[in-house]
Amino acid sequence: SGFPSALRNNLSKLGVRQDILNFIFQWFSDRDECPKIPEAKGAIKAIRTEPFFIPLYELYLTYGGIFRLTFGPKSFLIVSDPAIAKHILRDNCKAYSKGILAEILEFVMGKGLIPADGEIWRARRRAIVPALHQKYVAAMIDLFGQATDRLCKKLDDAASNGEDIEMESLFSRLTLDIIGKALFNYDFDSLTNDAGIIEAVYTVLREAEDRSVAPIPFWEIPIWKDISPKQKKVNEALKLINDTLDNLISICKRMVEQEDLQFHEEYMNEQDPSILHFLLASGDDVSSKQLRDDLMTMLIAGHETSAAVLTWTFYLLFKEPTVMSKLQNEVDSVLGDRFPSIEDMKNLKYTTRVINESLRLYPQPPVLIRRSLQDDMLGEYPIKRGEDIFISVWNLHRSIHLWEDADKFNPERWPLDGPNPNETNQNFRYLPFGGGPRKCVGDVFASYEVVVALAMLVRRFNFEMAIGAPPVEMTTGATIHTTAGLKMTVTRRVSPPVTPSYGIPVVKVGSSECISQADFE
Ligand code: HEM
Repeated sequence: SGFPSALRNNLSKLGVRQDILNFIFQWFSDRDECPKIPEAKGAIKAIRTEPFFIPLYELYLTYGGIFRLTFGPKSFLIVSDPAIAKHILRDNCKAYSKGILAEILEFVMGKGLIPADGEIWRARRRAIVPALHQKYVAAMIDLFGQATDRLCKKLDDAASNGEDIEMESLFSRLTLDIIGKALFNYDFDSLTNDAGIIEAVYTVLREAEDRSVAPIPFWEIPIWKDISPKQKKVNEALKLINDTLDNLISICKRMVEQEDLQFHEEYMNEQDPSILHFLLASGDDVSSKQLRDDLMTMLIAGHETSAAVLTWTFYLLFKEPTVMSKLQNEVDSVLGDRFPSIEDMKNLKYTTRVINESLRLYPQPPVLIRRSLQDDMLGEYPIKRGEDIFISVWNLHRSIHLWEDADKFNPERWPLDGPNPNETNQNFRYLPFGGGPRKCVGDVFASYEVVVALAMLVRRFNFEMAIGAPPVEMTTGATIHTTAGLKMTVTRRVSPPVTPSYGIPVVKVGSSECISQADFE
């Protein structure tokens, strides 16, 4: 700022009029008055060797809640400040789009709900949100129970045979089975099956993740994109999934035409409670392509996110055995060996806190991506249109400035009788499901899904790290994965099964019997 003001003084001395000087120097003075966003230059070499959000945390401690990161011609704003996150996600959300994320995911999600912006997003969001009504979620809890029961049978076999198991891939299959039924009434049965469609889903998922961490958009390179064997495989996988979805859509259309159920607010077909069925029955005027994009989007959004939450929760529980025993005690007394119902969700309080805390330490995804559509102010800093922004949920959730014992897995930090923590009551320092109008549509669904799975699994089994298991480290894709799996040894729990009834105190009859749900039916 020294040079412009010296120049101005000299021009003034030479007799140049003040209004002309004001006009000429307005640009400089704008810059003088507005502070500039701190720039983290040359500090990013580490980024390639570890998950990128780890060095971003170090940079946050050095440069603060907003800083600029430059890679050659590209630059990103990294936001780790709750007030700025709130401004971008909620208060001025109209000024932001999904930017790079939409570009990367286009090949698989098209104009589905996650990448879509503007009018398409608004219309689709309005159509989809009502599908996840209370009655639907209650029906889904039965589905979560049945799917987890299938997983328990697998673990039972492993326990009998003394085999170690890799939990991360089993969780991925569990949540794939669940989301397939929940979205379009399709049974992937991936816990017992290895059909081509399942491999296709994983091929596409891995490709989306490769693209999101790729330094250059290799999939746009002409010729290569057509002859690369990997791209060919991806295209075949996409075709298989799209054909399957198209087929499911037309089967469902026929079902809807034949049924005489009136569509109403909590509409649900008992045989097929899926979201697809709801959307078709609602008479929602939508192209099959758009429907397919939305289903594909939710398939991806609701699959590996939930699987990652379960994986990291089991890892955290293994490290904190006292939390595990408290959790098992709660599940024993609330649930016993019953399948969970929606009423149990409010009673599994500690189980819910374990999940809340796991989502704090391992947010999925660890960063949210936006692009500014117009000039704006972020805190005290002006920004231009077209800025690519990463909101580091990882930094927010682990900030030593925002949390006591930030790195400690401590479900007790959330009082049992307090509100369920969310971005609103935590003022955007905690946003496991995002915030503002683009908040996750599956938040309640997903929370119940992981609570049911966690409760049923720890009720029946004890979990230890397998002897000689690879160290548990993080790699990034869209969600946080382990580098080499989560290899565990499961053993059946010896504590006697008690089957409490719904909210009614257990009355012991004799020594081993108790009143069970069946007695009330
Ligand atoms: C959006 C997290 C499960 C569907 C989001 C966002 C987050 C998130 C953080 C906001 C993204 C952003 O603002 O850029 C999670 C986590 C889950 C989970 C942690 C599991 C524990 C699900 C499930 C579904 C789903 C099961 C489907 C039933 C969606 C959709 C969006 C979304 C459609 C985009 C909403 C929009 O842009 O309007 N999710 N999600 N998610 N999620 Fe989830």
